[in-house]
Amino acid sequence: MEQKRKATAERLGVPPELMPRHLAIIMDGNGRWAQRRGLPRYEGHGQGARTAEMISLRCVDLGIESVTLYVFSLENWKRPQAEIDALMHIYSGYLVSIRQSLMENNVRFVHLGRVDGLPASVTDALRGTGELTGDNTGMVLAMALNYGGRAEVVDATRDIARRVRNGELQVEDIDEQCVSDHLYTKGLADPDLLIRTANELRVSNFLLWQISYSEFYVTDTLWPDFDQATLEKAMIAYARRDRRFGAIHTEPSSRG
Ligand code: IPE
Ligand code: IPE
Ligand code: MG
Repeated sequence: MEQKRKATAERLGVPPELMPRHLAIIMDGNGRWAQRRGLPRYEGHGQGARTAEMISLRCVDLGIESVTLYVFSLENWKRPQAEIDALMHIYSGYLVSIRQSLMENNVRFVHLGRVDGLPASVTDALRGTGELTGDNTGMVLAMALNYGGRAEVVDATRDIARRVRNGELQVEDIDEQCVSDHLYTKGLADPDLLIRTANELRVSNFLLWQISYSEFYVTDTLWPDFDQATLEKAMIAYARRDRRFGAIHTEPSSRG
């Protein structure tokens, strides 16, 4: 992975330490992509799933350590039932069809989100793909499916409260690390770069805790049209950002 990172950094002309390690993507614009072609919305979702698979594999080649994709939010249950059914059908097929390429590329799959409320075909596929790839040691592919950022904080709070009640945890020991360790993303680094497609300037309840210092990149490209060139443009823009984390720089920037 380090080798791939270095090769990518060299090709893009950025210092290797300014390559994002964890990339998060709000994959938006499937519906508009379909509408513009006079197609039903589910065609946009189908094409979006193909783009997601292609981009995940490109991320392996680029040497990115973790990729988190926003697939379906808790708020997306507000959509018409026919669209939800089409999405669930796509997910259950997709989560099985990617297994071979995940194994070939040593990718570990993790699910972020609630299990309750999803059809059994999707929960079985999530569990199966997670178990199959659980020992892989390469890139982590996290899918936020049936995910809400506030719900994640609620679920973490409940877990922590239960552990305090059982005497496993002291109130004084609850700190930021403790909260992080009870989120769905436990063990994953916070995203360095958050990309949103389809030109919306909002977070839509995604990874609220984890993106406190992530760099944002918004593109007007619709998700089904997103490609490696657009991803690399975002990575180059990221390398030019000055991440200060609240501090000020006392040394000359290495970015020239
Ligand atoms: C993103 O595309 C996919 C999901 C949220 C499931 P949209 O379906 O939101 O596409 P637009 O925003 O309507 O174009
Ligand atoms: C965000 O997209 C959710 C996903 C990409 C899964 P939405 O299309 O649901 O977001 P809003 O409704 O425009 O904020
Ligand atoms: Mg949308």
